[in-house]
Amino acid sequence: MRRLLVTGGAGFIGANFCHYWSEQHPTDRVVVLDALTYAGNPESIASLTESRRVRFVRADIADRAQVDALLTEEHIDTIVNFAAESHVDRSIEDAAVFLRTNVLGTQALLEAASDSWGLGAAERGCRFHHVSTDEVYGSLAAGEAAFTETSPYAPSSPYAASKAAADHLVRAYGRTYGLPFTISNCSNNYGPYQFPEKLLPLCVLNALEGRPLPIYGDGLQIRDWLHVADHCRAIDLILQASPAGETWNVGGATQDPTIAVVGAVWDVLDEAFAAQRELRERFGRSPAAQGGSARTLVTHVRDRPGHDRRYAVDARKIRERLGFVPGKSLSTGLRETVRWYLEHEPWWRAVVSGSYREWYARQYRL
Ligand code: NAD
Ligand code: DAU
Repeated sequence: MRRLLVTGGAGFIGANFCHYWSEQHPTDRVVVLDALTYAGNPESIASLTESRRVRFVRADIADRAQVDALLTEEHIDTIVNFAAESHVDRSIEDAAVFLRTNVLGTQALLEAASDSWGLGAAERGCRFHHVSTDEVYGSLAAGEAAFTETSPYAPSSPYAASKAAADHLVRAYGRTYGLPFTISNCSNNYGPYQFPEKLLPLCVLNALEGRPLPIYGDGLQIRDWLHVADHCRAIDLILQASPAGETWNVGGATQDPTIAVVGAVWDVLDEAFAAQRELRERFGRSPAAQGGSARTLVTHVRDRPGHDRRYAVDARKIRERLGFVPGKSLSTGLRETVRWYLEHEPWWRAVVSGSYREWYARQYRL
């Protein structure tokens, strides 16, 4: 039986991970630590906390006193660190908080784990798993080979640079203090509970409300899309089977331009609106409610500064050594995700109020 501390467990991937873990490993202890920034939503794990399958503690990963107390009190032997500032555009507007959380916060957590577990942590089965991103490798030109675990780091945005710094710190704590760690560098996730500042939920919600969808530049940037449930399963495999000290690329093996993925989402929506009168009544401002297509909402805007043109992940290592292959195709995953947002209107109505509206107005001026 493991005793997990899931940091950032009220965010998009962390919450999905808590649901996944509670189903797959029901006898494990799961404690979530999350500062509840604008992106953290306790509602995303409410069914787990209410049934007491997960304990929730509101705290900052940089708060040594709170983290130390939890590690001791809960006898934590596994930390999965999702906590981060995660949105590239916000890091371009103001990088400082990204360095505070992603770099200094990760360092504080590493030190807390190292102090708490002490010598012989690896032999006792302790593990610090750090959740990182393919963005640390920078941008690929068309035709260039996909990133492997040994590709040099070349981050473009302050967000990516802060994640790269954190990865280096994790490895340094392994080398210097013997902390048993693993790192996963994953591609773009999509699925339930994703905050609508990210492309796919933004695309769904703007289509429902009949708002323009801002496409940066020509919209031909390429991302590797992976359903969040597959990412959670990959982390599980790493925790079960990876030796300490290893890094794993995780990817979906899809390489689609933004504009094509957006079009695929809207095709699903247009189809659903054509079939269901109830949707046409609920979302009267959507072009699809009037027999049109959400595709008319595409609005090309100024490109993101330093925008990475293409990501592609070479995930052979995790496939060959741990047997991981993505389980969900992009078309099935997108269909399910659209349905989830249609069925969870109160969840997204609550998160798009307040400070998000102010950010939206500043970011897009649309
Ligand atoms: P998210 O923004 O949805 O969630 C981040 C969570 O961290 C939120 O609940 C927030 O409240 C919490 N948090 C922020 N600062 C904190 C702090 N100082 N202390 C404690 N909690 C804090 O992000 P996400 O998309 O779920 O990403 C989770 C992790 O996965 C991040 O580390 C991100 O870099 C990484 N990642 C994301 C993707 C993706 O496509 N979303 C892909 C690869 C890797
Ligand atoms: O690759 C993994 C990364 O994926 C994670 O590390 C990040 O946390 C996560 O946010 C994501 O970063 P991206 O920048 O790739 O995701 P985003 O959803 O912001 O944008 C996806 C693509 O869509 C990107 O090329 C920019 C474009 N885009 C995005 C937004 C929000 C637009 O064209 N318009 C938009 O309004």
